[in-house]
Amino acid sequence: MGKKRIGILTSGGDCPGLNAAIRSLGKTAILRYDFEVVGFLSGFAGLISGEYIILDEAKLSGILTLGGTILGTSREKPFKNYQNDSEKVESKPEAIQRTYETLGLECLICIGGNGTQKTAHKLAKMGLKVIGLPKTIDNDIWGTDITFGFDSAVSIATEAIDRLHTTANSHRRIMVVEVMGHHAGWLALYSGMASGGDVILIPEIPYTIETIAAYLEDRYRKQKPYSIVVVAEGIPIPEPLREKYYSPAHYIADSVQKLTGLESRETILGYVQRGGTPTAYDRVLATRLGSYAVELIMKRKWNRMVCVRNGEIDSVKLEEVSGKLKLVEPDHPMIEEARSLGTCFGNEGR
Ligand code: F6P
Repeated sequence: MGKKRIGILTSGGDCPGLNAAIRSLGKTAILRYDFEVVGFLSGFAGLISGEYIILDEAKLSGILTLGGTILGTSREKPFKNYQNDSEKVESKPEAIQRTYETLGLECLICIGGNGTQKTAHKLAKMGLKVIGLPKTIDNDIWGTDITFGFDSAVSIATEAIDRLHTTANSHRRIMVVEVMGHHAGWLALYSGMASGGDVILIPEIPYTIETIAAYLEDRYRKQKPYSIVVVAEGIPIPEPLREKYYSPAHYIADSVQKLTGLESRETILGYVQRGGTPTAYDRVLATRLGSYAVELIMKRKWNRMVCVRNGEIDSVKLEEVSGKLKLVEPDHPMIEEARSLGTCFGNEGR
Protein backbone atom coordinates (compact mmCIF):
# COMPACT_ATOMS: atom_id res chain seq x y z
CA MET A 1 0.00 0.00 0.00
CA GLY A 2 1.20 3.50 -0.87
CA LYS A 3 1.45 6.35 1.56
CA LYS A 4 -1.68 8.03 2.86
CA ARG A 5 -2.21 11.39 1.22
CA ILE A 6 -3.57 14.69 2.48
CA GLY A 7 -4.37 17.85 0.51
CA ILE A 8 -3.72 21.46 1.50
CA LEU A 9 -4.93 24.69 -0.03
CA THR A 10 -4.83 28.39 0.80
CA SER A 11 -7.91 30.39 -0.18
CA GLY A 12 -9.20 33.98 0.02
CA GLY A 13 -7.08 37.09 0.60
CA ASP A 14 -3.50 36.22 1.50
CA CYS A 15 -1.77 37.22 4.72
CA PRO A 16 1.60 36.80 6.43
CA GLY A 17 1.92 33.35 8.03
CA LEU A 18 0.40 31.20 5.28
CA ASN A 19 3.73 29.64 4.39
CA ALA A 20 4.50 29.05 8.06
CA ALA A 21 1.23 27.09 8.28
CA ILE A 22 1.92 25.13 5.07
CA ARG A 23 5.39 24.28 6.36
CA SER A 24 4.11 23.15 9.72
CA LEU A 25 1.28 21.03 8.30
CA GLY A 26 3.53 19.53 5.66
CA LYS A 27 6.50 18.77 7.86
CA THR A 28 4.38 17.28 10.65
CA ALA A 29 2.47 15.13 8.16
CA ILE A 30 5.63 13.93 6.39
CA LEU A 31 8.13 13.62 9.21
CA ARG A 32 5.88 12.43 12.00
CA TYR A 33 3.27 10.38 10.15
CA ASP A 34 4.84 9.58 6.76
CA PHE A 35 2.01 11.09 4.70
CA GLU A 36 2.28 12.34 1.16
CA VAL A 37 1.23 16.00 0.97
CA VAL A 38 -0.51 17.49 -2.05
CA GLY A 39 -0.68 21.29 -2.34
CA PHE A 40 -3.49 22.59 -4.55
CA LEU A 41 -2.70 25.73 -6.54
CA SER A 42 -4.73 28.95 -6.33
CA GLY A 43 -7.15 27.85 -3.62
CA PHE A 44 -10.33 26.02 -4.58
CA ALA A 45 -9.56 26.76 -8.25
CA GLY A 46 -6.76 24.18 -8.11
CA LEU A 47 -9.01 21.67 -6.43
CA ILE A 48 -11.57 22.11 -9.19
CA SER A 49 -9.06 21.88 -12.05
CA GLY A 50 -6.86 19.26 -10.37
CA GLU A 51 -3.77 21.49 -10.43
CA TYR A 52 -1.42 20.65 -7.59
CA ILE A 53 2.18 20.09 -6.58
CA ILE A 54 3.62 17.50 -4.24
CA LEU A 55 4.93 19.26 -1.16
CA ASP A 56 8.06 17.35 -0.27
CA GLU A 57 10.57 18.33 2.40
CA ALA A 58 12.62 20.40 -0.03
CA LYS A 59 9.61 22.51 -1.04
CA LEU A 60 8.75 23.08 2.61
CA SER A 61 12.21 24.34 3.52
CA GLY A 62 13.12 28.01 3.68
CA ILE A 63 9.55 29.30 3.59
CA LEU A 64 8.86 30.06 7.26
CA THR A 65 9.61 33.76 6.97
CA LEU A 66 8.23 34.21 3.47
CA GLY A 67 5.11 36.36 2.96
CA GLY A 68 2.26 35.33 0.64
CA THR A 69 1.65 31.67 -0.11
CA ILE A 70 3.79 29.30 -2.18
CA LEU A 71 0.54 27.65 -3.33
CA GLY A 72 -1.11 30.84 -4.56
CA THR A 73 -4.65 31.76 -3.64
CA SER A 74 -7.89 32.96 -5.20
CA ARG A 75 -11.36 34.05 -4.23
CA GLU A 76 -12.91 31.09 -6.07
CA LYS A 77 -16.22 30.14 -4.39
CA PRO A 78 -17.20 26.75 -5.81
CA PHE A 79 -20.74 26.84 -4.38
CA LYS A 80 -21.61 30.31 -5.66
CA ASN A 81 -24.68 30.18 -7.93
CA TYR A 82 -24.55 26.39 -7.60
CA GLN A 83 -27.70 24.54 -8.56
CA ASN A 84 -27.57 20.81 -8.83
CA ASP A 85 -29.83 20.63 -11.87
CA SER A 86 -27.49 19.98 -14.76
CA GLU A 87 -26.64 16.40 -15.58
CA LYS A 88 -24.48 17.25 -18.59
CA VAL A 89 -21.94 19.73 -17.25
CA GLU A 90 -19.80 18.81 -14.29
CA SER A 91 -20.41 21.35 -11.53
CA LYS A 92 -17.51 22.77 -9.50
CA PRO A 93 -18.45 20.80 -6.35
CA GLU A 94 -18.57 17.64 -8.47
CA ALA A 95 -15.16 18.46 -9.94
CA ILE A 96 -13.82 18.89 -6.42
CA GLN A 97 -15.24 15.55 -5.36
CA ARG A 98 -13.62 13.93 -8.40
CA THR A 99 -10.19 15.43 -7.64
CA TYR A 100 -10.50 14.40 -4.00
CA GLU A 101 -11.44 10.83 -4.88
CA THR A 102 -8.97 10.43 -7.75
CA LEU A 103 -6.13 11.43 -5.47
CA GLY A 104 -7.51 9.23 -2.68
CA LEU A 105 -7.17 11.99 -0.10
CA GLU A 106 -7.35 11.11 3.56
CA CYS A 107 -8.31 14.69 4.37
CA LEU A 108 -8.38 18.18 2.86
CA ILE A 109 -7.00 21.07 4.90
CA CYS A 110 -8.45 24.45 3.96
CA ILE A 111 -6.45 27.44 5.18
CA GLY A 112 -8.56 30.57 4.91
CA GLY A 113 -10.97 33.11 6.27
CA ASN A 114 -14.73 33.13 6.69
CA GLY A 115 -15.58 32.32 3.07
CA THR A 116 -13.12 29.42 3.10
CA GLN A 117 -14.53 27.94 6.32
CA LYS A 118 -18.02 28.19 4.85
CA THR A 119 -16.93 26.34 1.70
CA ALA A 120 -15.07 23.77 3.82
CA HIS A 121 -18.28 23.14 5.75
CA LYS A 122 -20.21 22.64 2.52
CA LEU A 123 -17.60 20.17 1.31
CA ALA A 124 -17.87 18.32 4.61
CA LYS A 125 -21.64 18.07 4.07
CA MET A 126 -20.88 16.44 0.70
CA GLY A 127 -18.95 13.75 2.54
CA LEU A 128 -15.36 15.02 2.21
CA LYS A 129 -13.16 14.89 5.29
CA VAL A 130 -12.12 18.47 5.91
CA ILE A 131 -10.19 20.52 8.47
CA GLY A 132 -10.07 24.33 8.53
CA LEU A 133 -7.22 26.59 9.61
CA PRO A 134 -8.17 30.20 10.46
CA LYS A 135 -6.13 32.92 8.75
CA THR A 136 -6.97 36.53 8.00
CA ILE A 137 -5.68 39.98 8.78
CA ASP A 138 -9.28 40.85 9.75
CA ASN A 139 -9.38 38.58 12.85
CA ASP A 140 -13.11 38.15 12.25
CA ILE A 141 -13.50 34.36 12.23
CA TRP A 142 -16.05 33.16 14.73
CA GLY A 143 -14.89 30.40 17.10
CA THR A 144 -11.26 31.44 17.50
CA ASP A 145 -9.80 34.12 19.75
CA ILE A 146 -7.31 35.07 17.06
CA THR A 147 -6.35 34.31 13.47
CA PHE A 148 -2.84 34.27 12.10
CA GLY A 149 -1.99 37.21 9.85
CA PHE A 150 -3.69 39.63 12.23
CA ASP A 151 -0.67 40.36 14.41
CA SER A 152 1.50 41.04 11.35
CA ALA A 153 -1.08 43.40 9.88
CA VAL A 154 -1.41 45.24 13.21
CA SER A 155 2.38 45.67 13.30
CA ILE A 156 2.56 46.93 9.70
CA ALA A 157 -0.31 49.38 10.25
CA THR A 158 1.17 50.55 13.54
CA GLU A 159 4.55 51.26 11.98
CA ALA A 160 2.90 53.18 9.15
CA ILE A 161 0.81 55.27 11.56
CA ASP A 162 3.92 55.98 13.67
CA ARG A 163 5.41 57.54 10.55
CA LEU A 164 2.31 59.67 10.04
CA HIS A 165 2.75 61.18 13.51
CA THR A 166 5.98 62.94 12.55
CA THR A 167 4.77 64.41 9.28
CA ALA A 168 1.45 65.35 10.90
CA ASN A 169 3.37 67.21 13.61
CA SER A 170 5.58 69.09 11.13
CA HIS A 171 2.56 70.35 9.16
CA ARG A 172 0.11 70.63 12.06
CA ARG A 173 -2.36 68.49 10.21
CA ILE A 174 -5.08 66.02 10.89
CA MET A 175 -4.04 62.70 9.41
CA VAL A 176 -6.83 60.27 8.60
CA VAL A 177 -5.51 56.77 7.99
CA GLU A 178 -7.63 53.94 6.67
CA VAL A 179 -6.83 50.35 7.57
CA MET A 180 -8.40 47.14 6.24
CA GLY A 181 -10.55 44.75 8.27
CA HIS A 182 -13.58 44.18 6.02
CA HIS A 183 -16.74 44.46 8.18
CA ALA A 184 -14.82 44.21 11.47
CA GLY A 185 -12.96 46.86 13.45
CA TRP A 186 -10.28 44.65 15.01
CA LEU A 187 -7.41 45.94 12.90
CA ALA A 188 -8.38 49.59 13.44
CA LEU A 189 -8.89 49.05 17.18
CA TYR A 190 -5.54 47.32 17.75
CA SER A 191 -3.42 49.43 15.40
CA GLY A 192 -5.23 52.55 16.62
CA MET A 193 -4.46 51.77 20.24
CA ALA A 194 -0.88 50.70 19.48
CA SER A 195 -0.13 53.87 17.53
CA GLY A 196 -1.90 56.33 19.83
CA GLY A 197 -4.74 57.17 17.45
CA ASP A 198 -6.74 60.12 18.84
CA VAL A 199 -9.88 59.01 17.04
CA ILE A 200 -10.63 55.38 16.16
CA LEU A 201 -13.63 54.65 13.97
CA ILE A 202 -14.88 51.07 13.64
CA PRO A 203 -17.97 49.66 11.88
CA GLU A 204 -19.38 48.32 15.14
CA ILE A 205 -19.74 51.82 16.69
CA PRO A 206 -21.91 54.35 14.80
CA TYR A 207 -20.24 57.76 14.54
CA THR A 208 -21.29 61.29 13.71
CA ILE A 209 -18.97 63.60 11.83
CA GLU A 210 -19.95 66.47 14.15
CA THR A 211 -18.72 64.56 17.22
CA ILE A 212 -15.38 63.91 15.53
CA ALA A 213 -15.03 67.55 14.43
CA ALA A 214 -15.86 68.86 17.92
CA TYR A 215 -13.31 66.51 19.47
CA LEU A 216 -10.57 67.58 17.03
CA GLU A 217 -11.32 71.27 17.58
CA ASP A 218 -11.06 70.68 21.31
CA ARG A 219 -7.62 69.12 20.84
CA TYR A 220 -6.57 72.13 18.77
CA ARG A 221 -7.76 74.49 21.52
CA LYS A 222 -5.68 72.49 24.02
CA GLN A 223 -2.56 73.25 21.95
CA LYS A 224 -2.24 69.75 20.49
CA PRO A 225 -0.48 70.48 17.19
CA TYR A 226 -1.88 67.54 15.24
CA SER A 227 -4.28 64.60 15.42
CA ILE A 228 -4.38 61.04 14.11
CA VAL A 229 -7.70 59.52 13.05
CA VAL A 230 -7.65 55.75 12.43
CA VAL A 231 -10.53 54.60 10.26
CA ALA A 232 -11.62 51.03 9.52
CA GLU A 233 -12.41 50.49 5.83
CA GLY A 234 -15.83 49.11 6.82
CA ILE A 235 -17.30 52.28 8.38
CA PRO A 236 -20.22 53.70 6.42
CA ILE A 237 -20.22 56.90 4.35
CA PRO A 238 -23.65 58.59 4.62
CA GLU A 239 -25.87 57.48 1.74
CA PRO A 240 -26.11 60.74 -0.26
CA LEU A 241 -22.32 61.17 -0.29
CA ARG A 242 -21.21 57.69 -1.38
CA GLU A 243 -20.74 58.71 -4.99
CA LYS A 244 -18.63 61.70 -4.05
CA TYR A 245 -15.98 59.97 -1.94
CA TYR A 246 -13.76 57.10 -3.00
CA SER A 247 -13.26 55.79 0.55
CA PRO A 248 -14.27 56.37 4.18
CA ALA A 249 -10.90 58.06 4.89
CA HIS A 250 -11.48 60.48 2.02
CA TYR A 251 -14.94 61.32 3.38
CA ILE A 252 -13.74 61.81 6.96
CA ALA A 253 -10.71 63.94 6.00
CA ASP A 254 -12.68 66.19 3.66
CA SER A 255 -15.61 66.63 6.06
CA VAL A 256 -13.42 67.30 9.08
CA GLN A 257 -11.45 69.93 7.16
CA LYS A 258 -14.67 71.65 6.10
CA LEU A 259 -16.15 71.60 9.61
CA THR A 260 -13.04 72.58 11.58
CA GLY A 261 -10.93 74.55 9.10
CA LEU A 262 -7.99 72.37 10.14
CA GLU A 263 -5.89 71.02 7.30
CA SER A 264 -6.56 67.32 6.83
CA ARG A 265 -5.09 64.55 4.67
CA GLU A 266 -6.05 60.93 4.09
CA THR A 267 -3.82 57.88 3.69
CA ILE A 268 -5.12 54.46 2.68
CA LEU A 269 -2.73 51.72 3.73
CA GLY A 270 -4.26 49.06 1.48
CA TYR A 271 -2.45 45.87 0.56
CA VAL A 272 0.83 46.64 2.31
CA GLN A 273 -1.01 45.38 5.39
CA ARG A 274 -1.11 41.90 3.86
CA GLY A 275 2.42 41.80 2.50
CA GLY A 276 5.82 40.73 3.71
CA THR A 277 7.21 38.56 6.43
CA PRO A 278 5.04 37.43 9.37
CA THR A 279 5.75 38.56 12.91
CA ALA A 280 7.23 36.05 15.35
CA TYR A 281 3.78 35.78 16.98
CA ASP A 282 2.13 34.82 13.67
CA ARG A 283 4.87 32.35 12.83
CA VAL A 284 4.39 30.61 16.15
CA LEU A 285 0.59 30.67 15.89
CA ALA A 286 0.55 29.35 12.31
CA THR A 287 3.05 26.63 13.25
CA ARG A 288 1.05 25.52 16.28
CA LEU A 289 -2.29 25.51 14.43
CA GLY A 290 -0.75 23.59 11.54
CA SER A 291 0.76 20.86 13.67
CA TYR A 292 -2.47 20.54 15.70
CA ALA A 293 -4.46 20.09 12.47
CA VAL A 294 -2.39 17.01 11.60
CA GLU A 295 -3.01 15.61 15.07
CA LEU A 296 -6.75 16.03 14.44
CA ILE A 297 -6.38 13.94 11.29
CA MET A 298 -4.66 11.22 13.30
CA LYS A 299 -7.49 11.32 15.85
CA ARG A 300 -9.97 11.14 12.94
CA LYS A 301 -11.65 14.33 14.16
CA TRP A 302 -12.89 15.67 10.83
CA ASN A 303 -14.94 18.66 9.87
CA ARG A 304 -13.52 20.93 12.49
CA MET A 305 -11.60 24.20 12.45
CA VAL A 306 -8.48 24.49 14.55
CA CYS A 307 -8.78 27.47 16.89
CA VAL A 308 -7.37 29.31 19.88
CA ARG A 309 -9.58 29.34 22.94
CA ASN A 310 -8.43 31.06 26.13
CA GLY A 311 -4.84 30.84 24.96
CA GLU A 312 -4.98 27.08 24.23
CA ILE A 313 -4.99 25.45 20.79
CA ASP A 314 -8.27 23.61 20.33
CA SER A 315 -10.84 22.90 17.64
CA VAL A 316 -14.45 23.78 16.91
CA LYS A 317 -17.03 22.20 14.58
CA LEU A 318 -17.09 23.79 11.12
CA GLU A 319 -20.88 23.89 11.26
CA GLU A 320 -20.65 26.21 14.28
CA VAL A 321 -18.20 28.55 12.52
CA SER A 322 -19.81 28.64 9.10
CA GLY A 323 -21.73 31.78 8.17
CA LYS A 324 -20.89 33.74 11.34
CA LEU A 325 -18.66 36.77 11.90
CA LYS A 326 -16.70 37.72 15.00
CA LEU A 327 -17.13 41.47 15.36
CA VAL A 328 -15.91 43.86 18.05
CA GLU A 329 -18.48 44.09 20.84
CA PRO A 330 -19.14 47.80 21.50
CA ASP A 331 -18.48 47.11 25.20
CA HIS A 332 -15.17 45.34 24.51
CA PRO A 333 -12.73 46.16 27.36
CA MET A 334 -10.26 47.78 24.92
CA ILE A 335 -12.87 50.38 23.98
CA GLU A 336 -13.45 51.39 27.57
CA GLU A 337 -9.71 51.41 28.23
CA ALA A 338 -9.08 53.64 25.20
CA ARG A 339 -11.97 55.95 26.14
CA SER A 340 -10.56 56.32 29.63
CA LEU A 341 -7.43 57.92 28.19
CA GLY A 342 -9.39 60.25 25.98
CA THR A 343 -9.65 58.34 22.69
CA CYS A 344 -12.70 59.30 20.65
CA PHE A 345 -14.82 56.64 18.90
CA GLY A 346 -17.00 59.17 17.12
CA ASN A 347 -20.13 58.88 19.23
CA GLU A 348 -21.58 60.58 22.26
CA GLY A 349 -19.71 58.25 24.64
CA ARG A 350 -16.67 59.66 22.80
O1 F6P B 1 -9.96 39.66 4.17
C1 F6P B 1 -8.75 40.31 4.03
C2 F6P B 1 -8.92 41.58 3.24
O2 F6P B 1 -7.65 42.17 3.08
C3 F6P B 1 -9.90 42.58 3.83
O3 F6P B 1 -9.35 43.31 4.91
C4 F6P B 1 -10.24 43.41 2.63
O4 F6P B 1 -11.49 44.01 2.77
C5 F6P B 1 -10.24 42.38 1.53
O5 F6P B 1 -9.44 41.31 1.97
C6 F6P B 1 -9.71 42.84 0.20
O6 F6P B 1 -9.94 41.83 -0.72
P1 F6P B 1 -9.26 41.66 -2.15
O7 F6P B 1 -7.90 41.08 -1.93
O8 F6P B 1 -10.15 40.69 -2.85
O9 F6P B 1 -9.23 43.02 -2.76
